[in-house]
Amino acid sequence: MRKLKVLFAAAFVATGAFSTMTMAEDVPEEVADVKAAYSEDGRYFTQYDIPTYNVQDDGTIDWPTYSGFRRYHSECHVCHGPEGEGSTYAPALKKSAMTMDYYDFIDVVTNGRKKVSASENSVMPAFGTNPNVMCYLNDIYVYMRARGTDAVPRGRPRKKEPKSDVIRADEKACLGGG
Ligand code: HEC
Repeated sequence: MRKLKVLFAAAFVATGAFSTMTMAEDVPEEVADVKAAYSEDGRYFTQYDIPTYNVQDDGTIDWPTYSGFRRYHSECHVCHGPEGEGSTYAPALKKSAMTMDYYDFIDVVTNGRKKVSASENSVMPAFGTNPNVMCYLNDIYVYMRARGTDAVPRGRPRKKEPKSDVIRADEKACLGGG
């Protein structure tokens, strides 16, 4: 089965051009920066064109972060724990999202990863053909970033921006086989 493409920047993963591993103690500025520099149709991006969350003064969060909360808790939390807190089996994604390069994050979810050693035998499944993950991967990513900085508290977010027409149309196209 052909792999679905994540919207926007994630398409660059296919080229491998940005696939550089980063170390926790040496987090590049593009990875550390969570500040929304601009928005397009209800989605927010950093000055490096990386998807990010946005929290307004009254606590209203952007739609993608809210969507990410829902998608994370339907597809990822069984292994990675509620709200990205981690489990004995899989790492705390709210931490991974703050140190991993965006493109590496997308790559691991798309292609999976397997660590086999004397002490560990853990498998991250590949989700590349699962539209319920791939069509919402940026949402899951920004939700994890919002948890990583504690910009969004644990639990179901209360106030959110409405879903924009563009997000609605893109979602439909993606789920439809886009
Ligand atoms: C069946 C259990 C399972 C599910 C479901 C799962 N993961 Fe994982 N994931 C793992 C394991 C185990 C690892 C560690 C893999 C390794 O040791 O290399 C991992 C690693 C990762 C990593 C790399 C983290 C790091 O610090 O290097 C990312 C990113 C990730 N998962 C994202 C996700 C997302 C997003 C979802 C939901 C769409 C998801 N995972 C669902 C088990 C799972």
